[in-house]
Parts: sequence; structure tokens; C-alpha cells
Amino acid sequence: METDINNEIHQECTTKEIFQKETKQSSDDSTKDVATPSKPLSKKQMKRMEKAKKLGVNKLIRRKREKLQKKVKRKLAEEEGIVTERTGISRKELKRMKDNQIPSDVSVAIDLSFDGFMSGKDLNSCVSQLLRVYSSNRRAIRPFPLHFTSLRKGSEMYKAMDHHEGWQNWNIIWHEESYLDFFDKSKLIYLTSESDNVLDSLEPGAVYVIGGLVDHNHHKNLCNEIALKHNIRTARLPLSEHLVIKSRTVLTINQCFDIILGISEGKTWQQVLMEALPARKKIQLKDDVKTQTNKEKSSVENLEKVENILDKNEKLNESIKNT
Ligand SMILES: C[S@@+](CC[C@H](N)C(=O)[O-])C[C@H]1O[C@@H](n2cnc3c(N)ncnc32)[C@H](O)[C@@H]1O
Repeated sequence: METDINNEIHQECTTKEIFQKETKQSSDDSTKDVATPSKPLSKKQMKRMEKAKKLGVNKLIRRKREKLQKKVKRKLAEEEGIVTERTGISRKELKRMKDNQIPSDVSVAIDLSFDGFMSGKDLNSCVSQLLRVYSSNRRAIRPFPLHFTSLRKGSEMYKAMDHHEGWQNWNIIWHEESYLDFFDKSKLIYLTSESDNVLDSLEPGAVYVIGGLVDHNHHKNLCNEIALKHNIRTARLPLSEHLVIKSRTVLTINQCFDIILGISEGKTWQQVLMEALPARKKIQLKDDVKTQTNKEKSSVENLEKVENILDKNEKLNESIKNT
């Protein structure tokens, strides 16, 4: 195995050397070209050209080196029986996943009408959460038709989105209008931690609305009030039903999205909640706590039994001594 890797490095190095030689050669050639009277270039332009060429070549070499290092590391880990996890999904894998995706019959709309309720920093956090939402949906087996609504050109949210080049090409449906303008009201269900209804399962054909708001709890009940004002159904995620947690726990946009995405893919509430919520929150499943207390109870009972046996033994020994 090691010889294989060494050979590969050797081969890659030779390729690299050839590559370097070739690029040097072409750079020399191009300098010659530049020097011909038919293409008169200023000194400044020539310098700029050289610099750009060098930068490009260095970038290519660096990428090649990094790729090779990763490959060697993975092979060595495989040799030692260590299971390595890829940090990202390759384009090829993404393409394969896309081909196997079956769109969900449930839609999700992210309500982006909260410009005035967020600081610049919160707007940026909101956009990063939207990026996560998009990324989860891209990788899903059953992606939701995903709508970004009330995303008006020129709004602060639109400007914040515009920091991410190419977002207009994402596989989302974005609207300047509100979700109220194009969805059947009877299909809408606004997800909000303040709702009195608990979400049990996803309703086929329904459109779940998530508030595109990062507010650090400064605008409690805002989404619930909006939904009630417009006579839209509401639901909260069943957190307190499955977790040892406060009944009104407010999650981020992407956590909320990942949870319903998991449910649409057939996972259980316990599974999706444990996957979506960060371990640092020290969240425990209610079932686990029950088993733990049962275990503690039975170990106390066992201890009592042992103590009883010891007592009986002691008494027996004493009575033997006395006879
Ligand atoms: C950070 S929260 C915004 C909190 C905001 N104060 C409000 O009025 O909803 C972002 C969105 O995630 C969804 N969300 C968060 N926690 C939820 C929960 N426990 N149940 C249902 N939806 C939740 C809601 O759609 C919410 O608008």
C-alpha cells in the first residue's frame, strides 16, 4: 500500500514538474509573443500579464497538491481501518442525489417580510440560515418545493441575499409578493412556537410557513399574531412532547426546516429532534429519562434485596453461635 502511495506521489510530482516546465515554457513563449512588434504591449501590461499567469499557475499547483494530500490521507486512514467522513458532498454525488429525488407534496414558504425587525447583523444571520435551508433541501431525498416570499427588490433582505453571488439561480421559487397573495389560505399553516396546536404529522398538499426572522426573542409572538390576524392555521413543533425541554422553545429557521424535512422523509420525531438540535443544549429524550429513572429504581431495589439477605445471614449466624 505504502509503495502504491509513494508511486502515486512520485507520479504526481513528475506530472507536477512537467506541468511546471510546460507552464514555464508557455510563459516564455508568450513573452516572446508579446515582444513581437505585431503585438506591441506596454511594460505595465506585460508585467500584469506575467503576474496573472503566475497566480493562475500557483493556484492550479496548490489545488493539485491539496487534492493529492487528501487522497494520501484517506488511503492511509483506510489502511489503518479508520472510517473517514467526507466533509462535503461532491458535485457528482449531488447530481446523483438530484436524479433520485422525489419532490414532496408538502411545500415550505419562508416569510421574508421582517426587514424592519432585524439589525444588519441579524439580517446576515438570517441569510446564513437560509443558505443552510437551501443546502439541506438540495441534499434531501424528498425536497420541498421551497418558496422565499416577500423578497422585494431593493429591500434590506434582498441586499443581504445579494452578497451571495448567484443566489437567483438557486433551485427555489422566490416572490416579491406575500405567501397570502398566491397560496390558497386553507392550505397555509404558519409554524410558530406560540401556537396552541401541536404538529403531529405533515398534511399532504399543505404549505408550511416559517418566519424568516432572527430576533433573539425580542419580538415574541409576532408570527403567531400575524397568522391569527390573517386567519391562517398555526402549529408548533412537538418539542415538549418528546424532549425534556421548556414548552415554548424557539428554534432557528434552519432547525425548524430540518425537523419537518426529516419528518417528510419518514423519520421519527425523536430522530429528527435529536439530529437537528445541537448537543450543547444537553437535550434529552423523554423516553431516555424514563428508562434512566427505571434503571435507577431497579438498582435501588436490588441494593435493598442484598441488604435484606445480609441481615438474614447475620441473624442466622448469631442464632447458630447461641445454640
Ligand atoms: C427565530 S424564530 C422567530 C421567532 C419570532 N419571535 C416569532 O414570532 O416566531 C424563526 C421561525 O422559526 C419557526 N419556529 C421556531 N421555533 C418553532 C417551534 N418551536 N415551533 C414551530 N415553529 C418554530 C417559526 O416559524 C419562527 O417564525
